[in-house]
Amino acid sequence: MSSKLEPQQAEPLSQDKSAVTVRPIQADDAGLLYAMHQRLSLDSIYYRYLQYRPPTLAELEQVCQLAPERGAGFVATVQQDDERVVGVAYYVREPQEQAPTAELGILVEDQFQGQGIGRRLWQRMQQHALRHTIRKLRVLFHPNNQRVARLVSSSGFAYQATRHSGLSEYLVALGESPRQSASVVA
Ligand SMILES: CC(C)(COP(=O)(O)OP(=O)(O)OC[C@H]1O[C@@H](n2cnc3c(N)ncnc32)[C@H](O)[C@@H]1OP(=O)(O)O)[C@@H](O)C(=O)NCCC(=O)NCCS
Repeated sequence: MSSKLEPQQAEPLSQDKSAVTVRPIQADDAGLLYAMHQRLSLDSIYYRYLQYRPPTLAELEQVCQLAPERGAGFVATVQQDDERVVGVAYYVREPQEQAPTAELGILVEDQFQGQGIGRRLWQRMQQHALRHTIRKLRVLFHPNNQRVARLVSSSGFAYQATRHSGLSEYLVALGESPRQSASVVA
């Protein structure tokens, strides 16, 4: 682990994009997701979870069994000898927000980053969220994390950027045009 968080430097594993499938997460994906987490760099774990502890199998089982009224998730997979999960994205509805809001988590395995898989997962997820009445997606991330900042800021939607407690937060207004975007530093 580098002492200062920098963009990840893993050697990309060249992958035919058409060979990557994005599909809804299933209850029995927890084992494949857990295996993916064992292959991640500490930087990727930190960027996703803002701590160095990866989730337990029990925590991943909860992600794979999200009730439809609470949220939804998708995985990116490749077929090697067996199916391998190389990316995951999900949103969880927040209670008590005036505009229905959900928090987003997104993660792509190091060797598959920078090849458009995050973009595909994001698109699939935001389309699903919009269809299920979510109006705002909240993304919390480390300020050095240029890749997720770029992923969200070029999504085609308005977003409000804030910074608090050392973290960046983008609140994306699904369906709204980007010209209304604003940055606020708290
Ligand atoms: C953030 C993450 C999900 C993005 O997935 P990805 O597959 O690597 O991203 P993509 O290849 O789809 O690229 C997404 C955007 O980032 C841009 N990008 C790629 N590498 C970049 C870099 N080093 N710096 C800045 N932008 C970069 C791409 O150009 C693309 O934008 P575009 O479509 O407008 O051109 C992935 O890098 C990841 O899992 N990181 C660790 C966990 C994390 O940070 N999660 C987010 C917090 S919840």
